[in-house]
Amino acid sequence: MNLPELTILDEKDKRLRLISKEVTFPLEEEDKKRIQDMLDYLKISQIEELREKYDLRAGMGLAYIQLGIAKRIFVIVDEVEEGKFQNYIVINPKIISNSEELIYVGEGEGCLSINRETEGIVPRYARVTVEAQDIDGNTYTIRVREDLSVAFQHEIDHLNGILFTDKIDPKDPYKNQENMREI
Ligand code: NI
Repeated sequence: MNLPELTILDEKDKRLRLISKEVTFPLEEEDKKRIQDMLDYLKISQIEELREKYDLRAGMGLAYIQLGIAKRIFVIVDEVEEGKFQNYIVINPKIISNSEELIYVGEGEGCLSINRETEGIVPRYARVTVEAQDIDGNTYTIRVREDLSVAFQHEIDHLNGILFTDKIDPKDPYKNQENMREI
C-alpha cells in the first residue's frame, strides 16, 4: 500500500474553524477516492513499520476539514486486533443519544492537526449512539463505546470547527477528573 498524498492542516489554519456543510448524494467519484485515501492513510499510520518508513504520527480518525474541505465527512480506522482493522465512513452524523457516564483518555487525546505536546484531559461520553449516512447515502445507526466513542465525538467536533484543545481549561487542565473514568 502506497502512502496517499494528503496534506493535513495544522491547528493554526483557520479553515479548521469552519462549520462543515451537510453532504448530498450521490458522492462524486473524487470524494469516494478521497475517502479511500483517508482510510489508507490512517491504516498505514497505525502499522509501526510503515509509520516509521513514512515518518508519520499514528492517527485513528480524520475529518474532511483537516484536508481543508468543509463537508460533514469523517473516517475512523480502529485496530480491533493485531493487524486487523475496522473502517468507519461517517457522513452527516448526529449524536442521537449519549451515556451519562463521562470518560477521558488518560494519556491525553491526539489529533493529526495538533503537532505539539498538550496537557490536560477532555471529557467525553462513555457511549454514544450516532445516526449517519454511508458512502452510498444509506442511513445507519451505530452505538460506540470507549475509545471508539471518544474518536466519534472528537471527529464530530471537527465538523463543528472544534479542536480537542478547546475543551481543556488551561488554568485547570484536569478539571472534573474525579467525576470521569479514565480509559
Ligand atoms: Ni483531530
